[in-house]
Amino acid sequence: MKRILIAFGIILAIGLIAVAQGKIVIGHRGAAGYVPEETIAGYAFGYALGADYLEPDLVMTKDAQFICMHDIYLEPTTDIEQVFPTRHRSDGHWYAADFTLKEIKTLSVHERCKSNGTPYFPDRFPVGKSRFEVPTFAEMIELVQGLNKSTGRDVGIYPELKRPSWHEEQGLPMEQALLDTLSSYGYAEPGVKAYIQCFEAASLQELHRMETKIPLIQLVSGSWSYSKMWSEQGLETIATYADGIGPSKAIIEKNPKYVKWAHALGLVVHPYTFRKDQLPSKYASLAQELDRFYNDYNVDGVFTDFVDIAVAVLASH
Ligand code: G3P
Ligand code: CA
Repeated sequence: MKRILIAFGIILAIGLIAVAQGKIVIGHRGAAGYVPEETIAGYAFGYALGADYLEPDLVMTKDAQFICMHDIYLEPTTDIEQVFPTRHRSDGHWYAADFTLKEIKTLSVHERCKSNGTPYFPDRFPVGKSRFEVPTFAEMIELVQGLNKSTGRDVGIYPELKRPSWHEEQGLPMEQALLDTLSSYGYAEPGVKAYIQCFEAASLQELHRMETKIPLIQLVSGSWSYSKMWSEQGLETIATYADGIGPSKAIIEKNPKYVKWAHALGLVVHPYTFRKDQLPSKYASLAQELDRFYNDYNVDGVFTDFVDIAVAVLASH
């Protein structure tokens, strides 16, 4: 009996390790905790810290090129106000969609700043130091594929389409262009290391109708307009066109059963965004918060600005 129990224990331990090994770390906007977001240096740093996937947010330029940028506006993370002082719209924003790639390539990227010019995260990379440019999505992919070749690793990409309906209104449809770019870099077959994520269900539904083989992730905001997606029924609808969800971590914290509901429908669960400099007061450290999500709430991966901490948490189990 004792031998049977020991054997059962070993099988269980192997099973748990296998499950833990299947969990992933997604470098949010690269390695935003350490290097200005959405830059080649940031993606390289996230890669070196051990990310399984690297996330670029994607917006389009006037000449329909994908660039890695979180906002449809350029001023929170670049020096656009100094370089093109008069080229804002009447709402006071400088839109990437109003500039050619050639123009955008003249800009310097800096740590994210508020509208009053102060950094969002004061303890991160100093604003205005060193020099970073806005990468195209193609450059980001080539970096990851180049590092995969030189290191022998197989790190994936996890692009997010930002505001596709707004881009459509500007005459810049995103979905087919995204699939074309991915396909041109070999991300068209099932099993390639890529996900596509978006907050807009209609965009994901269009990609689903286009029969993309790349898994689709419905991002689920914690804001009330997404409340239908917080229910089991909402997840059933998502499962008709997507392969997983990327919920705000607050949704899971309020209702840990959300993960079980999603798993029962075959959806993977990758919550966002884990930051040591934006830690909920109930946790003593980012490692403790990540441990709760990976091992108690049983999520399949996390978006984090601090890749190294998530890698260490997974390695400790
Ligand atoms: O894509 C997951 C997470 O990045 C969503 O939030 O605003 O950082 O793109 P955001
Ligand atoms: Ca994102």
